[in-house]
Amino acid sequence: MNAPRHYLQFKDFSRAEYDYLFARTRWIKDKFKRYEPHHPLFDRTLVMIFEKASTRTRLSFEAGMQQLGGSAIYLNTRDSQLGRGEPVEDAAQVISRMSDIVMIRTFEQSIIERFAEYSRVPVINGLTNEYHPCQILADIFTFIEHRGPIQGKTVAWVGDSNNVCNTWLQAAEVLDFQVRVSTPPGYEVEPERAGLYGTGHFAHFDDPMEACRGADLVTTDVWTSMGFEAENEERMRDFADWQVDEDMMKIANPGAVFMHCLPAHRGEEVSAEVIDGPQSVVWDEAENRLHAQKALMDYLLIGKVEGDCA
Ligand code: CP
Ligand code: NVA
Repeated sequence: MNAPRHYLQFKDFSRAEYDYLFARTRWIKDKFKRYEPHHPLFDRTLVMIFEKASTRTRLSFEAGMQQLGGSAIYLNTRDSQLGRGEPVEDAAQVISRMSDIVMIRTFEQSIIERFAEYSRVPVINGLTNEYHPCQILADIFTFIEHRGPIQGKTVAWVGDSNNVCNTWLQAAEVLDFQVRVSTPPGYEVEPERAGLYGTGHFAHFDDPMEACRGADLVTTDVWTSMGFEAENEERMRDFADWQVDEDMMKIANPGAVFMHCLPAHRGEEVSAEVIDGPQSVVWDEAENRLHAQKALMDYLLIGKVEGDCA
């Protein structure tokens, strides 16, 4: 049996594969909007394993698989043996014998890597402490929809250097754009990780305004990610000056868009004026999770479809 292809980090795919996926997402989205049925994954089963909460990821994968003609099964830690100590390697062997593709949202990246090693079917990262590749896949598709190719553009990341930020950094490397990150002291991108991106794709700024100067896309995320709730109070104090506000949007390029993976906290990481303002594309960004992940599942299960996505 050939080893399956997985999507565990953004850098698992090449730029040529992303070019294909973005074109395929466009085609799948347009077809969906015209209410034209498209069932390339008829009879296929997606298993979704959630060890953390979710609205968008669950909905977009479940609806997406159904729209492609397949079905989706939801498992969580509370109601399955996963929460009672069954080894990840054992779970992977069993689950992948009964399904065609698996999506996992969990804590350490090492958990999903262990699962993938023992899985007979493709495994997709639906968020780990380290990465959220499906989010950035949808985000870049959204940028392309609104502003065209991202190559050579500048993304400003303001706030916590978390899983979403790490994924932007990988994407900059693969797709050739720049990410300017501003975090409070003590929350910087880890030096080993920053070292990986020291080739003109990443720069750190102490001042969030400087990070936003001339940016084509300004983005942020919650100050306290899932799993870090014990640090919440301290983080509220430490991040107080890292709220994306109208001044930051004004110093960005005039055509800059604002993105947030959601859920958002108005008055914390972003002001209501920005997230509900004219430069915000957050609802398109959320919707595009559906279309981009349909293209991703279609690609992992049936490969490149010639001539059907240009
Ligand atoms: N952005 C995102 O992954 O949202 P959920 O946590 O609701 O899935
Ligand atoms: N950084 C956030 C993203 C939620 C979609 C978290 O990990 O909780």
